[in-house]
Amino acid sequence: MKHIAIVNGPNLNLLGTRETDIYGKQSFEDYFLGLQARWTGVTLSQFQSNVEGEIINQLQSLAKGGACDGIVLNAAAYSHTSIAIADTLKAIDVPVVLVHISNVFAREEERKTDLMVASAKGLVCGLGLQGYDLAIRALMS
Ligand code: DQA
Repeated sequence: MKHIAIVNGPNLNLLGTRETDIYGKQSFEDYFLGLQARWTGVTLSQFQSNVEGEIINQLQSLAKGGACDGIVLNAAAYSHTSIAIADTLKAIDVPVVLVHISNVFAREEERKTDLMVASAKGLVCGLGLQGYDLAIRALMS
């Protein structure tokens, strides 16, 4: 069975209570249960960290020895700032689809740059939590 790994960055553990006008009222844990129910033929895992180095370690270990077949990455605010995570994406050989729950291109100037996108297979942006479903679909196709 294919393994798709979701990696979420800072503050995404607060989904459901954080800026609900932008990110909605559903927690990621709750959404993830639905994802698993919908994607029965796929092993899904999820990892979240508020710490840049932990995200890098996780991406590196997911890329080792076929540990997964694809990564869905929402690096959250690090998407706009982290050369270190962008370097990790350049170094690994697993397809990565990026997700932004909100439409970062319609928000503040500092959110309009995504340092990860050059190394990604694609980007799903502004479609809410269903972006994760769409990213998995892209990785499975
Ligand atoms: C986000 C957008 C980022 O700008 C923000 O810092 C986040 C979440 C999104 O999913 O819309 O934390 O990545």
